[in-house]
Amino acid sequence: MTQVAVAMTSIHKSFGNVVANDGVSIEIKEGEVCAIAGENGAGKTTLMNILAGLLQPDRGSIKIYEKICRFKRSADAIRAGIGMVHQHLKLVSSFTVLENVILGHEPTEKGFISYKKARDRIQEIVERFAFQLLVDELVDSLSASQKQQVEILRLIYHEAQILVFDEPTSMLAPIEKEHFFRGIALFRQQGKTVVLISHKISDLIDIADKMYVMRKGKVVAEYEKADFNLEKISTAIVGDEEIAVTNISKSISDRDGIPLLKVHLSLQGGQRGRGRVAFSIFPGEVFGITGVAGNGQRELVDALFGINHNYIGRITWKGSVLKGSTTEQIRRLGITYLPEDRKNRGSISLFTLAENRILGYHKTEPFVRKRRFDFSKICKDTRQLLDKYHIMAPDELSKAEYLSGGNLQKLLLARELEGFPELIIMEQPTRGLDIRATREFYEVLQRRKEKGLAILLISSDLDEILEISDRIGVLYDYSMVYEVEKEKATRSSVGMHMTRGTF
Ligand SMILES: Nc1ncnc2c1ncn2[C@@H]1O[C@H](COP(=O)(O)OP(=O)(O)OP(=O)(O)O)[C@@H](O)[C@H]1O
Ligand SMILES: [Mg+2]
Repeated sequence: MTQVAVAMTSIHKSFGNVVANDGVSIEIKEGEVCAIAGENGAGKTTLMNILAGLLQPDRGSIKIYEKICRFKRSADAIRAGIGMVHQHLKLVSSFTVLENVILGHEPTEKGFISYKKARDRIQEIVERFAFQLLVDELVDSLSASQKQQVEILRLIYHEAQILVFDEPTSMLAPIEKEHFFRGIALFRQQGKTVVLISHKISDLIDIADKMYVMRKGKVVAEYEKADFNLEKISTAIVGDEEIAVTNISKSISDRDGIPLLKVHLSLQGGQRGRGRVAFSIFPGEVFGITGVAGNGQRELVDALFGINHNYIGRITWKGSVLKGSTTEQIRRLGITYLPEDRKNRGSISLFTLAENRILGYHKTEPFVRKRRFDFSKICKDTRQLLDKYHIMAPDELSKAEYLSGGNLQKLLLARELEGFPELIIMEQPTRGLDIRATREFYEVLQRRKEKGLAILLISSDLDEILEISDRIGVLYDYSMVYEVEKEKATRSSVGMHMTRGTF
């Protein structure tokens, strides 16, 4: 008989007047892959944070392998065999892979940290799982998928038996996702138990053995693998409301005149040391750039947005050279940026929502008058934004760190779009957004596009790239190796260029 590895019963958790978990019960058998789906703010992360000992439930009980557990801190949960990879990765970027893996549990010898023992074990795990990592590399220089591997490595190092992944695949390119799923299958074979949270229902259907759907803090549906059905599950997630599907239509933009943005760069990096990237964007157009993370995306954005001026080549905005302009000047020209890393580049966790709302607008009217902040205006405006973009938050004075992943992303989107830019550079914009929020987001984009907004979409989500781009470019090894019109783009041709460069 297989044992029940995790049983959470009648879990309640409130934050002030927000009920995040309202009597949630789940049961997972040893060796099972259990999926948790549900819209933004449904309470998925809260439930798993309780399992991982980061939060204490107000009521309810947890049994691990049939034994009642009360976790006061995450170390208690780790000791019980539970490990979690968070929605926003929690690595120290100035530390090496090794230092991150042993962090908090450094093996010592005579009072000093003994790296030797740790290094040997970590090296062994890296080889066993074929991770693309060097043990002494700085985490800062790693791609998103490599960072995720470091987190997984850490769980294996700490011998976790129950592995929780909070939206692990949204940052991975198709090929990386396959690797990740192969890793999950390996865990299952070894008798480990896996919990997977994701908004990509089709992925969950492929990999999970059972699934819970949460809505507004409650479990509203439970399925065994034999009953998995995309339509049924999607309906359970959103409830009875219909979701209108927006078609992002092909732009009617005139591509004969001067482009809004013209890029002709030689990017430093990659296997050959340099790569060539050239493209232009016209008003009302979505230019989608895809590629496996770490193929020059970050360097490209840094050059475009004035974060790095050390590049060879030319970037022009309406015909004028952009080089040397600061980020602030670039924003003033009408270019804005929605970064991939919402927690570090996009927001300040300890600031309130109202304070985060005015980042980038904190020197200008209407929020500043006579060199002072107009707080009542800022708060009122933020409240309106929360309402307009359906952002779930207690109020405008709560801290950004308490927003659910999807709701934080909605706030940043709202902030950037409300500046009425002419060009928006977006990295993985719908990562972490649920079905409804993604649709609403596409709808807003479509309306803005009709008014001439140009969009540079950088995404490793092939579905998204194919759906909303007018033209698609593929980055591989710091070069743009492929450019294709929407009508001619196929999943296989774009996918092939992403992983191999050329055929
Ligand atoms: N520490 C906190 N303080 C206050 N409110 C919180 C806190 N953590 C979560 N919440 C709120 O609890 C609710 C559930 O959030 P949770 O992060 O569990 O949602 P989620 O299902 O993971 O959503 P997403 O898909 O957007 O990540 C949200 O309304 C969120 O704002
Ligand atoms: Mg979450």
